[in-house]
Formats: sequence, structure tokens, C-alpha cells
Amino acid sequence: MARIPPIQILAVLLGLPSLILAQTSSSPSPPPQPQPSQPPSRATASTTSTQTQSPTASPLQNIPCNNSPLLCTRAYDNVTHMGAHDSSFLRDASTSNSLAGNQYFNATVALSAGIRLLSAQVHSSSSSGTLQLCHSYCELLDAGPLADWLSAIRYWLDGNPNEVVTLLLVNSDNQPASAFGSAFDSAGISHYGYVPPSSSSSSSSNNSSSSSNTTTTTWPTLESMISSNKRLVTFIASVPDPPSPDHPFLLPEFRYVFETSYNITSASHFGCDLDRPSSAGSASEALGKGMMGLVNHFRYIDLGSGGIQIPDVGNIEITNSPSLVNGSGNLGEHLTRCQGGWGGRKPVFALVDFFDKGPSVEAAGLMSGLKGDDIVGRTAPTAKSTSGAVKEGGSGVVAALVGFLGIALVLL
Ligand SMILES: *[C@@H]1O[C@H](CO)[C@@H](O)[C@H](O)[C@H]1NC(C)=O
Ligand SMILES: *[C@@H]1O[C@H](CO)[C@@H](O)[C@H](O)[C@H]1NC(C)=O
Ligand SMILES: *[C@@H]1O[C@H](CO)[C@@H](O)[C@H](O)[C@H]1NC(C)=O
Ligand SMILES: *[C@@H]1O[C@H](CO)[C@@H](O)[C@H](O)[C@H]1NC(C)=O
Ligand SMILES: *[C@@H]1O[C@H](CO)[C@@H](O)[C@H](O)[C@H]1NC(C)=O
Ligand SMILES: *[C@@H]1O[C@H](CO)[C@@H](O)[C@H](O)[C@H]1NC(C)=O
Ligand SMILES: *[C@@H]1O[C@H](CO)[C@@H](O)[C@H](O)[C@H]1NC(C)=O
Repeated sequence: MARIPPIQILAVLLGLPSLILAQTSSSPSPPPQPQPSQPPSRATASTTSTQTQSPTASPLQNIPCNNSPLLCTRAYDNVTHMGAHDSSFLRDASTSNSLAGNQYFNATVALSAGIRLLSAQVHSSSSSGTLQLCHSYCELLDAGPLADWLSAIRYWLDGNPNEVVTLLLVNSDNQPASAFGSAFDSAGISHYGYVPPSSSSSSSSNNSSSSSNTTTTTWPTLESMISSNKRLVTFIASVPDPPSPDHPFLLPEFRYVFETSYNITSASHFGCDLDRPSSAGSASEALGKGMMGLVNHFRYIDLGSGGIQIPDVGNIEITNSPSLVNGSGNLGEHLTRCQGGWGGRKPVFALVDFFDKGPSVEAAGLMSGLKGDDIVGRTAPTAKSTSGAVKEGGSGVVAALVGFLGIALVLL
């Protein structure tokens, strides 16, 4: 009798049709979509306005950058970019509400709602040889090729010319930078890639003693990134440092970013200490080197003793709340506390599960000092009937199975 790999049994119990299809399917390219009518662009407007020399009457002043005219003159690292954690892994009809999903809405819906940071896990597909967005195992949740996801994001960037977007990709199978570069090239998104001055020049390799980890980068303003149309910042954990000259926009995350700890199961455990990279020392040392702080703000529950952790959806409205209430694990309180502990430097990035809850983007506005009517152009996703459809009974079945199989499955 043929032995069924345990992970397949698990995926079947998780209700994943993708699993059964996964061996042969590769997701189709995104369907051709009509070109959106182009909103006013700072990039095109700025070429005309510089000739008029009239800053007070600038046609640019009401054109927002990242959903607010007040953010245009801010440096990239003086804005809080709210992020959708595991943004490619959906808990919706397409995955039969998989427990392995971290978001109810996809990455471009998230961008339209005001999310400006998208994280995802990238694996290598042994069957297709391509980079694939999978959650822990491709058999568990396969969200399709990286290149397809990137082309949907490129389409969104094309239609939203005044927005700066950041990607954070986890290189789970240690694939070479060239494999990522190929996916970016085939998605047609590479030309948006921002390259910081310190890594665009390879001359530092002349001087190995002063290279790499001590680099302080001065980040440009959002409007300058928009004017130059270098509006996509891509961090990868991990790619070689310094980046490959072929794709210099693929930035090694831990040269620029430090993170707080991410496996939090209690409201009182959301902290501001540096968790990764440990080589950077403390949060204040990392900030002193010019690194930007990323606050991980997603809460998990343990399903029994089997070692499985899944998002704590029962508390998600409180967890993602922009409110400053202390002690309940609120996003607003956590970010504010980190800013206080970091000598006034605001968290530049935050990652949440189920971004539409809270709503989490309001906490980013708060951190950036924006009031309600300073913010324009966000489209909240429309409610789906499926949210919250995962049954606790299903969790119990998964926990029992995981315990039985001895799989430690932490869906982070
Ligand atoms: C960030 O922006 C605010 C508002 O414009 C400004 O007051 C502050 O000095 C800036 N912080 C840094 C570190 O540039
Ligand atoms: C999200 O869904 C919309 C509507 O189905 C689709 O047009 C878009 O390409 C999707 N985005 C991603 C990143 O898959
Ligand atoms: C290093 O840089 C200096 C100054 O730019 C240059 O004169 C020298 O030739 C370089 N050395 C090497 C090995 O590239
Ligand atoms: C190389 O590093 C040394 C020591 O840090 C420094 O004095 C020198 O100016 C650097 N040279 C270049 C070309 O950056
Ligand atoms: C930079 O940091 C990494 C670990 O993050 C370390 O392995 C490497 O040796 C460091 N490089 C330099 C030049 O200090
Ligand atoms: C998760 O947290 C536990 C304790 O709460 C710790 O022992 C463990 O090392 C953490 N794991 C990771 C991957 O951070
Ligand atoms: C939150 O509560 C804890 C313990 O009650 C306290 O130590 C901490 O200072 C409070 N934080 C804020 C931001 O009020």
C-alpha cells in the first residue's frame, strides 16, 4: 500500500484543495486587466513644476504621497509603513479558509487599503524549479509563483504612481539572488527597485575594513523616490551582502532592518527589544548604526502539546487596535511604547496578521502624526462572509494529528 506523506494528510485535514493539485499545477499568470485611468503623478508633474518656480502655488502640494500630502517631504525612514505579515497566505475561499492563512485579503487589496509593507515566504519548488510562495511547506499552502505575485504588485504600482511600497521576502530555501532577480525581471517590476547609495556603489569593496555592517544609509524623502520612480524597496532575509551587481535592489534585510521577537502568544509579551539580527546588539545600538526598527505584532495560540501555533483570531480586533490602551496587546500601545524606548525613533515598519482588523493602518497614521483628514485615498476592503469561518473543532483535529505525527508546525 502506498504510504501517504504525513504532510499531505495534514493538508487534507486543513482543507486545502491546493495540496491535491499542487503536484502538477502552476498558477496561471494574472489575467490581463484593463489599464486603470492614471491618477495625477508627482513624477510627471514635477518636471513641469520645477520650471514655474512657484512653490506656494505648486500643483504638487495636494498630491498625496503614501496616502497623505503631509508625507511627501518625510524621509522614508521617518514614516511608519504598516505591513501585512505573510501577505500572500490567505484564509479565504481560495484556500478553504486554511488555518495556514494569515490574511483575509490579498496583497494588492492590502495596498489599496493603505498597507505599504508586504511580507511573504519564498520557497523553491522542486517540481517546477521556480520560486514559489509557500507557507512552511508547499504541500501545506502554495500561493503560486513569486513572479505572478510580483506582477500583480507591479500592476498596482503602475496604477498608483505616488506610492512607495516595501517588500520583505524570507528566503526559506536559501535560493541565490539571481533566482529572485529572474522573478523580478519576468514580472517587469525591477525598474521600480530602489538602490540605496551605499549599496549602489561597489567601491566599498576596495576597503573591506569599512564595508558592510557599519553602513549608515540616509534615506530619501518619499517625493524624491516617487519623482525618480524608484518606488519599491525590497528586503530579503537573507541574500548575500553586498547585493549582486545584477540586481542591486535586492537588499539584505539585516543590514538595514532589525526586528522585535515574533513568536508572541500573550498580550503582555509584545516587546521592543532587538531579536534579530543578534549581531547588531541591542535596539539602541542598531538604531545608532542607522538601522530601522520593525515591530512584529502578531499573536499566536498554541494548539495543545503538538507544537502547532496558529494566529490568534479570537483576539485579533484587540491585537490590531490602534488604541493606546495598555495591557491588552493593542498595536497602537505597542508601537508607541517602542518609540518611547527607542529614544523617540518611530518604528519604521510593523507587521500584523489580518491587516483589515483594527484597522491596523490607523496605527501607522498615528505614528506618522497624521489626523483623520490628513489621510486620503485608502479603500477599506469590503467584508467577506467567510471571515471567522474556521471552526475550533477543526483546530482540535489538526492539533491531534500534529501531535500524533510528531510534526512541530509553527505557522509563523
Ligand atoms: C520626522 O518628521 C517630523 C515631522 O516632519 C519632524 O518633526 C522630525 O524632525 C523628523 N524626524 C527626523 C529624525 O528627521
Ligand atoms: C487580488 O485580487 C484581485 C481581485 O481578484 C486581483 O485583481 C489581484 O491581482 C489580486 N492580487 C494579488 C497580489 O494576487
Ligand atoms: C582603492 O581606492 C583608491 C582610491 O579611490 C584607489 O587609488 C586604489 O587604486 C583602489 N585600490 C584597489 C585595490 O582597487
Ligand atoms: C579605507 O578605510 C580606511 C580606514 O577606515 C580609511 O582611512 C580610508 O579613507 C578608506 N579609504 C577609502 C577609499 O574609502
Ligand atoms: C556582518 O554581519 C554578519 C552577521 O550579520 C557577519 O557574519 C559578518 O561577518 C559581518 N561583516 C563584517 C564586515 O563585519
Ligand atoms: C519562541 O519563544 C520561546 C519562548 O517563549 C523561545 O524559547 C523560542 O526560542 C522562541 N522561538 C523563536 C524562533 O524565536
Ligand atoms: C503599561 O503597563 C505596564 C505595567 O502596568 C507599565 O510598566 C508600563 O509603563 C505601561 N506602559 C505605558 C506606555 O503606559
